[in-house]
Amino acid sequence: TKVLTFLGIESSCDDTAAAVVRHGPAGAEVLASVVAGQVALHAPFGGVVPEIAARAHAEKLDGCVEEALAQSGLGLGDLDGIAVTAGPGLIGGVMSGVMCARGIAAGAGLPLVGVNHLAGHALTPRLTDGLAFPYLMLLVSGGHCQFLIARGPESFQRLGGTIDDAPGEAFDKTAKLLGLPQPGGPVVEAEAKNGNPKAFPFPRPLLDRPGCDMSFSGLKTALLRARDAEVAAHGGLYRQTRADMCASFQQAVADVLAEKTRRALKTYLEDAPAEPALAVAGGVAANQTIRAKLESVCAEMGVRFTAPPLKLCTDNAAMIAYAGIERFRAGTATAADLVPRPRWPL
Ligand code: KG4
Ligand code: ZN
Repeated sequence: TKVLTFLGIESSCDDTAAAVVRHGPAGAEVLASVVAGQVALHAPFGGVVPEIAARAHAEKLDGCVEEALAQSGLGLGDLDGIAVTAGPGLIGGVMSGVMCARGIAAGAGLPLVGVNHLAGHALTPRLTDGLAFPYLMLLVSGGHCQFLIARGPESFQRLGGTIDDAPGEAFDKTAKLLGLPQPGGPVVEAEAKNGNPKAFPFPRPLLDRPGCDMSFSGLKTALLRARDAEVAAHGGLYRQTRADMCASFQQAVADVLAEKTRRALKTYLEDAPAEPALAVAGGVAANQTIRAKLESVCAEMGVRFTAPPLKLCTDNAAMIAYAGIERFRAGTATAADLVPRPRWPL
């Protein structure tokens, strides 16, 4: 395996990012990873505003690339290629990224590879832990919730996912309903530490149905009802009640994820992979209760458990650079991959 060094560029949502990754016989190394968020820009609007995001990406991309190169100590002449997210995502941001990458690639005479943002997330466990194909991937964040069997750099089999909200979204809504700050995940987890997970019998949606699909919106409705009942009965929420609600909610999410993971692993293990492994990625993977449950399911089924470090699970350009290298090595990159696409299923 020849050593390859790629610059990665990501701008498909609300993070502008650039990174330099090197990959060779000894594995992969992130030489630099710069992420410029836009949280403050969008905060007054209560969500990501596509036009504002596109403009911010256009303004920040060059600076991010310069910073990533500076941090890596490399110049454009040291690179073997450039990888850029070409979708799926907010089209204005994706276009800014692709234009920026095209310019640099043309100027430096480097190959340019278009990368699917979701493939970037799904290949991250190879970048961080060197997992061998096929492995099972559980993506759980504020926007994603799905099981994928990764069979190759371009080959992903979706086993199921949420049919409504993502778990991170459910954590965020729970926090909102209980008067806690955003993002809800870490705050609800902290509250849950002082609560009784059995206090409220919240539903475990879709466990009665076969397959790996999940649903989290019913949980939110159940929580809303429980809260309203408490407020009606006591004129407000007791601190302990709030902690109990958080603990009970978190337990319900953890139980659903654990059982669906067990099922997904069964399907995955049917192919008798040589080095069976589960990788969990996304903000929700930071949750200790959820993580512990998933780890014990893996232990029970003889499967290695991995979770890439959080900063490589959230949006970043190192995963794009790495996915670009894999794609480049596979020789499957085409010019069509460089057409910015708002939708691009794996
Ligand atoms: O992967 P991520 O940073 O961004 C995307 O959604 O793309 O995930 C953020 C989500 C938020 O919904 C946040 O509330 C949730 O992950 N999260 C958590 C925890 N930390 C972050 N959920 C549960 N427990 C946590 N400790
Ligand atoms: Zn993402």
